Order: sequence, then structure tokens, then C-alpha cells
Amino acid sequence: SLMGKYSGMKQKERKLAEYFGVEKCIIVAGDSDDETKVLASFGQIISESLSTLLPDKENVIAVMGGTTMAAVAENMTMLDHNIRNNVFVPARGGIGETVDIQANSVSAMMASKTGGTSRPLYVPERVSHETYQSLLQEPFVQQVLGLIEESTCVIHSIGRALHMAARRGMSEQELVMLKNNGAVAESFGYFFDDDGKVVYKIPRIGLQLKDLEKVPYILAVAGGKSKAKAIHSYMKHAPQQTWLITDEGAANEMLKSI
Ligand code: G3H
Repeated sequence: SLMGKYSGMKQKERKLAEYFGVEKCIIVAGDSDDETKVLASFGQIISESLSTLLPDKENVIAVMGGTTMAAVAENMTMLDHNIRNNVFVPARGGIGETVDIQANSVSAMMASKTGGTSRPLYVPERVSHETYQSLLQEPFVQQVLGLIEESTCVIHSIGRALHMAARRGMSEQELVMLKNNGAVAESFGYFFDDDGKVVYKIPRIGLQLKDLEKVPYILAVAGGKSKAKAIHSYMKHAPQQTWLITDEGAANEMLKSI
């Protein structure tokens, strides 16, 4: 029955949240590996979660990039005033994605879909150390870094380590290093092994992993059976206030090994 199926899902959500020691887990039907409509429902869930969680003031929401985040942004809705007047900012400087899935684009899209505003963080990818250092001194960069520091909410995805490294054009040497260190998951430009320990970090300005601890609301959104291992690895040490938004494909696979 539909009711039976529903309560079964609730039980799985509770089990995952308890296992990872996080506030909440939401599982949407389907597997985003083979159905794009699952990604669309992530957008809906994120919108609803924001309107449930965010205090009624102007909040700063720091977001990461990737294909999941881009699809989430596309499918966000203007729910109520709670999520209006919020400022969306990229959480970290560019970590090597194509324009349409960069955090700058995701934050602009989220702002336009929800009725908020956004502020880009313009730090080019491949500039000399000197140029980078002097850019950091620029007032427009400083201002956005200040906003990131104040963020009430962070929204991010989780990816498979080697897949992400290859997509972002990391060197052969770095790929070998990641493999040797047992990297399984990637999030925020950090790479994690099976135990959820950081094995490598792409040095970028903006939000650092340790800063995440003091962010009141964190939404981690990732699905698909193929990502089960990665999600499991990252979630092991995810801050307690994290909400995991995933799908049946990933959840069922993770539950097999729990
Ligand atoms: O940091 C994680 C990645 O951004 C995930 O990327 O959503 O394209 O799989 P993806």
C-alpha cells in the first residue's frame, strides 16, 4: 500500500540520520542516476527546507557548484517571504568547473528562482600566486568573503573523488596521489577516504571545512546508486546540523552496508 511504502521510507530516513548522527535525512523516490526528475524533486525539497529552517531575516546562503546543485537551482521555487531577501553567495572560489555549473552560476540561479539576490566571487582559476594574492585584497572580493563568513546556511553536494578530480582537470600526479590515499568522496574541494577523513584539499578562498561546524543550517544534497559510497564516506563526519537530502537509489545502497 502507499501508506506502507511511505512509513517504510520514513523508517529508512530515520535509520540513516541516526547512523550518520545528523539532524535529518530526506529520501526522495527514484534514482537520480537514471531519472532527471529526481533532481527536480531535490530542488523542491531544498526550497521547502529553506523555508522551514531559515530565520525570518536577511540570511546569507553559501552554495557550492556541480551538476546536482545546478539542477537543484533550476528547480527551486518562490515559496514564501521567508526565503526572499536572502543573499546567495558561492561558498568557495572556483574549483575548476565549467561555467554553467560553477558556484557563481548556481547562486545567481537560486537567487532568481527564490526572489533573493546574489553576489559573485570573482576569482579566476589559473592566475599566478601574486595575482591571486592581490585579488584577495580587492574590496569586492573582501566583501563577499565577509558575507561567506556570516552565512546562516550552506548548500552543497557530494561527488565521487576520482570522477570529480578528472572532471576538474586535476593532474595525473594528483589523481595517482588521490588513488593512493584512498579518496572516495569529494565535497567543497576536499577529498575524503572511506572513513570520512580528509586526504586532500584544493586550496581556495572562502568557506573551509572547519568553518562548516559553526554554520547553523547545512543541506547536503546528493543521490544516485553510483554515489552511495561517496555519500556514505562524507556523511561519516558531517556536522550534526546537516540535513542529508538523497534518493532511494543511494539510500538503499547505503543501507545494505549499515
Ligand atoms: O562537490 C561535489 C560535486 O560538486 C558533485 O558534483 O553534482 O556534478 O555530481 P555533481
